[in-house]
Amino acid sequence: MKFIVLNGSPKGEKSLTLQYVKYLKKISKEHDFKVLHIASQINKIEKDEELFNGMIDDIKSCDGVLWAFPLYVFLVCSQYKRFIELIFERNVQEAFENKYAASLSTSIHFYDHTANNYIHAISEDLNMKFVDYYSADMYDLLDAGKRKKLACFFQLFTDAIHKNQDSIKKYKPVKPNRLMYKPQLEEKTIDTSHKKIIVVADLQEEEHNIKKMVNQFSHILNHNVEIINLNTLSIKGGCMGCLRCAYDNQCFYEGKDGFIDVYKEKLMTADILLFAGAIKDRYLSARWKMFFDRGFFNTHTPSLIGKQIGFIISGSLQQIPDLQEILQAYVEWQGSNLCGIVTDEYEDSSEVDRALYHLASQSMYYAKKAYIRSSTFLGIGGMKIFRDDMWGRLRFPFIADHKYYKENGIYNDFPQKDYPSRFKNGFLSLMAKIPTIRDEIYKKRIKDEMIKPFQKFIDNINA
Ligand SMILES: Cc1cc2nc3c(=O)[nH]c(=O)nc-3n(C[C@H](O)[C@H](O)[C@H](O)COP(=O)(O)O)c2cc1C
Repeated sequence: MKFIVLNGSPKGEKSLTLQYVKYLKKISKEHDFKVLHIASQINKIEKDEELFNGMIDDIKSCDGVLWAFPLYVFLVCSQYKRFIELIFERNVQEAFENKYAASLSTSIHFYDHTANNYIHAISEDLNMKFVDYYSADMYDLLDAGKRKKLACFFQLFTDAIHKNQDSIKKYKPVKPNRLMYKPQLEEKTIDTSHKKIIVVADLQEEEHNIKKMVNQFSHILNHNVEIINLNTLSIKGGCMGCLRCAYDNQCFYEGKDGFIDVYKEKLMTADILLFAGAIKDRYLSARWKMFFDRGFFNTHTPSLIGKQIGFIISGSLQQIPDLQEILQAYVEWQGSNLCGIVTDEYEDSSEVDRALYHLASQSMYYAKKAYIRSSTFLGIGGMKIFRDDMWGRLRFPFIADHKYYKENGIYNDFPQKDYPSRFKNGFLSLMAKIPTIRDEIYKKRIKDEMIKPFQKFIDNINA
């Protein structure tokens, strides 16, 4: 069988993910593999139609497509995302139709599910027969047990093609949202009380809802809002995964374009940040993705702590739960507060006006109160993955993260440092071996004991 591997790493041949593909090639000598370096060549692919069409022809003639990519900031990298956009923009979906597909990602398992879900859903949007995903940790290939699993995954993929296996769709197509937003300029506006408000927007042409929504939001806040247009901001290119930033957060692009200055001088000093853009396929635009990826010069260190962050989105966000999760998770791991998400998914424009007004007033209210909502699993779970890896196997090369984590107490919640709990666990586990005490604890006292510390605390407040 002939497999086309769509390499989604900006590192091209030097991709770690590609080593997994090389392994599969070695153990599957009966199959042909052709690797197309998508992410590392995206500028060329976009400009050179012959190159793009040649790739599409390769896809047309293959038996299976393997999307092989590294995780980049909750998704695939911007360069890969751009390729997906080109497929739709250039109307070449037909080449993918009815092809079997699978995804293979490498990562440290931070939001690997949202990226693999995205590729799964895109495959279905292309009417491909998606078989399965394999989400490898970066170094899984060095473990015999994990190699066996990976080999089994590939066997499942080839078997599915061989058997012409039926494929059941998991994702419904996203229905476009038809509202032509006509803002009614609000008479009431909101006092911004010297808060610094920045809107970063992927501004489209004048008539696009996103532009009108951003203008309306700005109007509600008496135009005390600075708008940064992603399309005029000088960003030379996407993150290349070179990891120069790992030592001291100095990016390869430093001094070469405007991104880092804007990030540091505008975003990091704002009180309220609004990110605005239109949905393209099942995420925002590749331009937006480039912005998020380039933010990786901060590596695994939250850089927007304490800020109010909101989103203004044109498109069918309600139909894309993975994107909703990404937006919330991004804000939570940054240590910021999600002050709201407004979309144009309404029957009439006045609803959008009302939602924008609500977002503006809530963001000001939260900013005045310096309110940061409690984190959920999305933020806490993600941070624990980073904490463990920065303390452990990734401390080198991520020296800047380790320094930050040490100085800011991020390692303080390691359970092995919790000596009172360790003593209590040891003592009570021992006591529980005695049947009468075990009965006393588990049958009679456990509920009372669990709330005892709170009762004492609450009683003391009343006193
Ligand atoms: C800019 C950037 C963003 C990343 N984002 C994530 C992420 O969101 N989740 C994760 O688990 N790993 C993330 N990683 C780690 C890579 O996915 C991982 O190192 C991968 O194995 C690199 O593969 P490659 O060499 O094929 O590019 C990121 C790495 C970089 C450079």
